[in-house]
Amino acid sequence: MSAQVSSDANPKVLVVDDVPRNVRLLEAVLSPNGYTVTSASSGSEALERVAADLPDLVLLDIQMPGMDGYEVCRRLRADPATRFLPVVMITSSDTEVRVNALEADADDFIRKPFDQEELLARVRSLVRIKHYHDTIEAQAAELAEWNQTLEARVDEQTEELRASRTRVVSAADAERRRIERDLHDGAQQHLIGLAVRMRLARDLADSEPEKAMEMLDALGDDVQEALEQLRDLAHGIYPPLLQDRGLPEALTAAAGSAPIRTRIQVDGITRYEPDVEATVYFCCLEALQNAAKHAGEGATATVNAWQEAEELRFDVADDGAGFDPERGRSGVGLTNMRDRVGAIGGSLQIDSAPGRGTTISGSIPLGS
Ligand SMILES: Nc1ncnc2c1ncn2[C@@H]1O[C@H](COP(=O)(O)OP(=O)(O)OP(=O)(O)O)[C@@H](O)[C@H]1O
Ligand SMILES: [Mg+2]
Repeated sequence: MSAQVSSDANPKVLVVDDVPRNVRLLEAVLSPNGYTVTSASSGSEALERVAADLPDLVLLDIQMPGMDGYEVCRRLRADPATRFLPVVMITSSDTEVRVNALEADADDFIRKPFDQEELLARVRSLVRIKHYHDTIEAQAAELAEWNQTLEARVDEQTEELRASRTRVVSAADAERRRIERDLHDGAQQHLIGLAVRMRLARDLADSEPEKAMEMLDALGDDVQEALEQLRDLAHGIYPPLLQDRGLPEALTAAAGSAPIRTRIQVDGITRYEPDVEATVYFCCLEALQNAAKHAGEGATATVNAWQEAEELRFDVADDGAGFDPERGRSGVGLTNMRDRVGAIGGSLQIDSAPGRGTTISGSIPLGS
């Protein structure tokens, strides 16, 4: 719903009277004073004009053939669209008529023969009230609309939050299962093998000491391998370089071993909360993996990270094939990036188009 706000400059007055001379009389007073006057000569025509012209005020004669002024007023009050339209009844002097006019819910009445100044003063003040009313109604409608937009946005964000929480939880479960699988298939198998061969070596120690020594030597290599597997696994969970030295060194190392030629610039970056550092690190890592996988042959990449006001920002750009972010399927990689950044209140932007390369940028609020 949008309420109409008439301008104060040119208010519209509908004069309702079955006697044309009375209409002319009122018009002669109102028109020179800046009012646009329209007229109706019966009750039913008055209702039609109100609906068509949306006047700011109605001057209503009481005695008319057919529908009289009281009935017109009652009908206007019954319609939500005209409930607050100012109605001034034009009455003769007798009191009963005035009481009836007020009972029909008219806003005011004017006695015939009317005094010009009094008429103008009453019309002016009622039109002003109508204008305030219209303004308030328009603002209320605008507010309701904003409210609706806001509610829709909150709903959307709540849904997005719920979905991302579900993804975070299931990603955490999947990660736990991966670690368990890696431990089971890798280090655990190695250790079991080691234990078996150590027992064998011990059994052989008396009868065939040389063979036992050989086996023990080989066991040293196996222990080394098991250690390396454990280290790799630990690196995958939280890179020690990131933990010990922070983002500049961890990102530089990641860029150095990336499968795509990568330039890196990390000026003014210090140490941050572990979740902030991990988010930036894993997002850059995934973006670099994507550049290596999808940008095409000969593409190069750049990684930038910097601090700006209270935000830590990063971007990973490549000059490769690009893609249409609206149409391309979003894989686990991009979704994880969004979830990671969103989980700590940041935002992620994907800027890419076929043939124009890809830039993934993120900003993370650092708080105080
Ligand atoms: N740097 C890039 N250059 C070109 N296309 C890209 C780039 N990064 C992402 N894409 C496109 O966006 C898609 C989604 O990327 P996303 O990282 O989510 O998934 P993925 O790399 O295909 O698989 P994974 O789940 O292993 O990360 C990619 O399949 C690719 O089509
Ligand atoms: Mg990917």
